[in-house]
Amino acid sequence: MSQETVYLKDYKKPSFLVDSVYLDIQVHQDHTIVDAVLEMTRQTAGELVLLGRDLELKHITLNGTLLNEQDYQLDSEQLVIHNAPEQIKLQTQVVIHPETNTMLEGLYQAGDLFVTQNEPEGFRKITFYPDRPDVLSVFTTRVEADKKYPVLLANGNLLEKGDLDNGRHYAIWQDPTKKPSYLFACVIGDLAVLKDRYVTSEGRDVALEIYAIEKDIPKCKIAMQALKHSMRWDEEHYGRPYDLDNYMIVAVSQFNMGAMENKGLNIFNTSCVLADEEYTTDAAIMRVQSVIAHEYFHNWTGNRITCRDWFQLCLKEGLTVFRDQSFSEDLQSAAVQRIDDVSVLKAHQFPEDAGPLSHPPRPDHFVEINNFYTATVYEKGAEINRMMATLLGKEKYRLGTDEYFSRHDGQAVTVEDWINALSAGSGTDLSAFLRWYNQPGTPKLEVTSEYVDGKYSLTFKQSLKANNKYPNLQALPIPVAFALFDPLTGQEINSDVYLFDQEQATISFDVVQKPVVSLLRNFSAPVNLEFDYSDDELAFLIEHETNGFNQWQATQTLLERILLKDHAVTPYINALKRTLPNMVKQDPLLASRLLDVPSEGYLGSRIDENYEPEIIQEKRNALLSALAREMGSFWKETYQALDPALQNEFSQAMGERALKNIMLTNMARQGDTAVFDLAYQQYRSTNNMSERLGAFKVLVWNDAPQAQEVIEDFYNRFKDEPLSLDQWFMLQAAQPNATAQTIQQLTQHSDYDLGTPNRIRAVSGGLNSNPVNTWSFGVQHFIDLAMYLDEKNPIVGSRLLQVLSRWYTLAEPKRTEVKNALTQLQPKSKNVSETLNSMLAV
Ligand code: TRP
Ligand code: ZN
Repeated sequence: MSQETVYLKDYKKPSFLVDSVYLDIQVHQDHTIVDAVLEMTRQTAGELVLLGRDLELKHITLNGTLLNEQDYQLDSEQLVIHNAPEQIKLQTQVVIHPETNTMLEGLYQAGDLFVTQNEPEGFRKITFYPDRPDVLSVFTTRVEADKKYPVLLANGNLLEKGDLDNGRHYAIWQDPTKKPSYLFACVIGDLAVLKDRYVTSEGRDVALEIYAIEKDIPKCKIAMQALKHSMRWDEEHYGRPYDLDNYMIVAVSQFNMGAMENKGLNIFNTSCVLADEEYTTDAAIMRVQSVIAHEYFHNWTGNRITCRDWFQLCLKEGLTVFRDQSFSEDLQSAAVQRIDDVSVLKAHQFPEDAGPLSHPPRPDHFVEINNFYTATVYEKGAEINRMMATLLGKEKYRLGTDEYFSRHDGQAVTVEDWINALSAGSGTDLSAFLRWYNQPGTPKLEVTSEYVDGKYSLTFKQSLKANNKYPNLQALPIPVAFALFDPLTGQEINSDVYLFDQEQATISFDVVQKPVVSLLRNFSAPVNLEFDYSDDELAFLIEHETNGFNQWQATQTLLERILLKDHAVTPYINALKRTLPNMVKQDPLLASRLLDVPSEGYLGSRIDENYEPEIIQEKRNALLSALAREMGSFWKETYQALDPALQNEFSQAMGERALKNIMLTNMARQGDTAVFDLAYQQYRSTNNMSERLGAFKVLVWNDAPQAQEVIEDFYNRFKDEPLSLDQWFMLQAAQPNATAQTIQQLTQHSDYDLGTPNRIRAVSGGLNSNPVNTWSFGVQHFIDLAMYLDEKNPIVGSRLLQVLSRWYTLAEPKRTEVKNALTQLQPKSKNVSETLNSMLAV
């Protein structure tokens, strides 16, 4: 396999544009035939390059003439036609094999369903094509299959449908909008459908359809509501109505990622569309709504305005994540949504950016683009857009996005185009933000304070870790939202957003006494803040900050000091004692987050050398015990006072359920075995998955007498519900006492399936929630998986190997052991090789 690096600086326009495409896809049991007709026009000098992979070429004609082998050059990656004329009509026929496609890329069979996944470069596994996002065309698609697959879908409008001989039938679809090939989709299968309608602000009556297997249709209702809600939201917040007469979503259980925004025909991992409180958790229900919104929002940010090349991936993903986060902030509490988003950023993106896989949100080179669907591209990309939006304020931001849509609708553009349009529309020069896209690493923001004679000053300093691949690192524009509080009354006396865009700067305020400052409100920039707070000031902020996000941030800062720097635990516990009793009544959801304790994995990611997972685990357990003990009867009393069933507001009820489970966990930590009866009763009496799983976890993780019974009971109840069963696998793999045998039992279970990424992730993700296990028997687990998937599904294999990317921080002898194990690997795929090479190049 070639390991060639592609560089952003080498971008060249395609030599030919495709005016129209006609595809005819004939699915048979042991092969699929794809006929394609491409009408093309020359745009610039150069050869005609058609990309194609794993295609068996049957015949090819150019402007009506059959070509033979001396007329073109064909290798495993492309078909090059020399001396092509200005106007071309190219007809090809290829044979492909979706029935044996385990990579879940291109057209593949998943159980009884045939679906496509073409982003970023899957379309070339369906037919020969200039498979790059800057080639936009109009697609007409004929799909043909046996009638045992009654559903035949493709993008756009249904033109025709009919029966054929031999029990077969066909459908012809046409998508009126020009799109790049990565947005092409088709679906062939036996599915039921949930239907609804939505009338856009322009009066367009849109048919909405969600396809899933029959028994899952009731679980599609929340997704349908979220879809309609997203459609309205995009009209109201960005002035963007929908542009086709139908919008279809198809749920598939074997899928590499969350979901895919194919034009008018989204394909979703079942985990991101099925939502029902009996089968899925509250967290999953929230995720479904945000992914539905995400894919819908792509229709404008991604589809109508797409990327010029894959280096610009962050243009569509960063912006669309920012949009779905904003949507979700309207859905539940804005503070809690922000807490959850920042938790993800800090748990995944910060470590990624601090290690060997660090790259700018817009990378300037890659070997395998699939390796760049990263937390940095998605989450840090979203943060960059958030910073610009924060700085501009609502009105100017809207003027900026309006300008972007009117300038670039129908085009394939770059990050520069986005910044330029946003600057022009808002009347604010945002060009310095380009640096955020082009530089890797999390900036360190050091702030010091001084109070002298009625003057309070804050001095800011920023720095980026030196990176030899990016030698010219420049100062970044960092919006710092902050507030000052009166230390005696706890009242807010000042709040503002300060744009810090130099190496160093000082600002000052006239005040009558030294205030308490709250910095980086709402996490206004993705930086590592270092400020000389006293522990008492942090405790003060937990109590008095009115910004819920920063209340939470104060708990996390304090906890990091306790867990990593051996600070005393008392200020933290006292602050909770003063804050929580009221908050559990007024804002249960926020209260549940204030009890977050950074995970062992996150804490480990803050340690750059001589990392010993066992020590972190010990310290964290000690903290958890102290917290459980010190809060005394609070847990039990709160547990008894809460009744989610009485809440008619979902986020309120969700908060109460989260709290109830935290209360059970802490009662168990107090050593109160009576809690097992409470948990068992909760497990038995509820029909809500969050309650059932919360109780399950307390029983199983604490080896309660009822543990075995609920493991069996859960399995019997949900054995035909893959998403629920994923939770069953995950929680057992994640139990603190899990051993190599626990994992082995799970991976040898008859329901374990290496062909289903969700199931693999359930066990591996559960295992990885205990870093002590990850870095002992887990090393071999992840290596074996990555090497098995190297051939079967390298996209997923590469991601699983990344779990080990911080090997170099381990204390010896483990560091050398893991390094030796990694060094011996000889992966075949570009995906796994590139990841492994980067991991070892630290
Ligand atoms: N564009 C998709 C999204 O973010 C991402 C995606 C879905 C994807 N499936 C994929 C990326 C497979 C790579 C491979 O919404
Ligand atoms: Zn996306």
